[in-house]
Amino acid sequence: MTGSIFRSRLSKAFDERTARFHTSVIEDMRIFDEDIDGTEAHDIMLHEQGIIPLESLKLILKALEETRNEWHSGKLQIGPEFEDIHEFIEKHVIGKIGLESGGMIHTGRSRNDQVVVDIRMKVRMDLLDVAERVLQLNEAIFKLAETHVDTIMMMYTHSQHAQIGTFAHYLLSYADALARDFQRLMECYSRVNKNPLGAGPIGGTSIRINRERTAELLGFEGLVENSIDATSGRDWAVEAASVSAIIMSNLSRICADFIEWSTREFNYIELADEYASSSSIMPQKKNPSTLELIRGRSAETYGTLVELLSMVKGIQSGYSQDLQGTKPPLWRCFDTVKTSLEIMAGIISTLKVNSIHMAESAKEGLTAAVELAERLVTEKNLSFRESYRLVAALVRYSIEKNTRLEDIQPEAFSEISERTIGREIKLDASFIKESTDAKLILKRRRSRGSPNPEEVRRKLEDRKKQLKESYAALNSKREAISKSKELLKETVAKYISL
Ligand code: ARG
Repeated sequence: MTGSIFRSRLSKAFDERTARFHTSVIEDMRIFDEDIDGTEAHDIMLHEQGIIPLESLKLILKALEETRNEWHSGKLQIGPEFEDIHEFIEKHVIGKIGLESGGMIHTGRSRNDQVVVDIRMKVRMDLLDVAERVLQLNEAIFKLAETHVDTIMMMYTHSQHAQIGTFAHYLLSYADALARDFQRLMECYSRVNKNPLGAGPIGGTSIRINRERTAELLGFEGLVENSIDATSGRDWAVEAASVSAIIMSNLSRICADFIEWSTREFNYIELADEYASSSSIMPQKKNPSTLELIRGRSAETYGTLVELLSMVKGIQSGYSQDLQGTKPPLWRCFDTVKTSLEIMAGIISTLKVNSIHMAESAKEGLTAAVELAERLVTEKNLSFRESYRLVAALVRYSIEKNTRLEDIQPEAFSEISERTIGREIKLDASFIKESTDAKLILKRRRSRGSPNPEEVRRKLEDRKKQLKESYAALNSKREAISKSKELLKETVAKYISL
């Protein structure tokens, strides 16, 4: 059979330029296996419904399996003369077994439901692969955090010294964000993993199909029921892009921190050499360029989100060819997210942390001010605003006298309190010293979720337990897919051997 199988109504072929412009075969290469699986499930169902006779089904399934093997052994040439992989595969099968049997494979189906089956099957795997990498990153984070529960570190707001914290506390903040990313991926998965097959071009089919059966054979949990929604909805793809973009935004902020903390001025951390680059001219350079690339590529995933949203915003209900453009940005987006997560896990597992320097830097400055103010509230019965005023005056005093907060003498303290709040507060020197000692400060932090090392240890244990549960949830989804793959394989083998 020569020429397109889809153009019987038309008198001419696409001109060559239009064919190249029109085809989706390049991006479809990623859904080759999915397309074979989808067609096998559909045709098995058609046979079981009494629509395709056994002899034809056997020929079809054999031809499809042969095609799959030829694809995997690199024997197939697929060019722009095919509109898409769906045309290629159907035509290839017809070429093998003839139009009488081969011509049955597309009964009761349209490319509009076919293509979303393939993309949903691909995207569900991508979501699980991303989810697995999120968990692996969290595993790396927990390992590093374990050794830094007592590593004192400055925390910043507005890029200015804010409160004293620990490096583990910082790390766990991102572990929590990533745990939410994991939840988002799982929820998105549950919406992606639904069967659109059987929706036809837009309004279903008069062929007596069984949509539940193809769902079972393909591992979908339920149907995308409405035939218009099934063929033209892409909100699930937008959601996948959105979840990916959010993950990248989290990674990007870690990158921003780590890039700054790798500077000579901060010198808190150093990337392992295998994650750093140098310069073509400045021999001394060690650049955190890998982090910069992750941060930069987050833009690419935001681009995917905007691209998909823009694509769907103006098109009428029902399939339009615009939707062909769903695939390339999605594939690119998943590639970027997966690699970025892997590299970030590598960076975290090999990170050199200058704990001593971190702790030293936290001692400088005036961050004990808030601790001192709170202690005056709890132990000296000042109202918070009185205490705030008093400590602000102490801060000004220490700046004027060029002395540290902890070196302010009790006499100066009494005098300042008299002057600012109209009451003399007597303190002994140890009160101020203890109020400004970083270790004691952390110990006194009592709010849930604070960097108090005991609290951080509790959280770490709790999150490690959660991680195990997340792995279990992920694996059960993977197992369900493997089972359906087995089922399809066995069913194909059974019919071929009948
Ligand atoms: N190549 C198309 C895509 O990727 C497949 C669906 C085409 N449907 C159609 N009626 N032209 O979206």
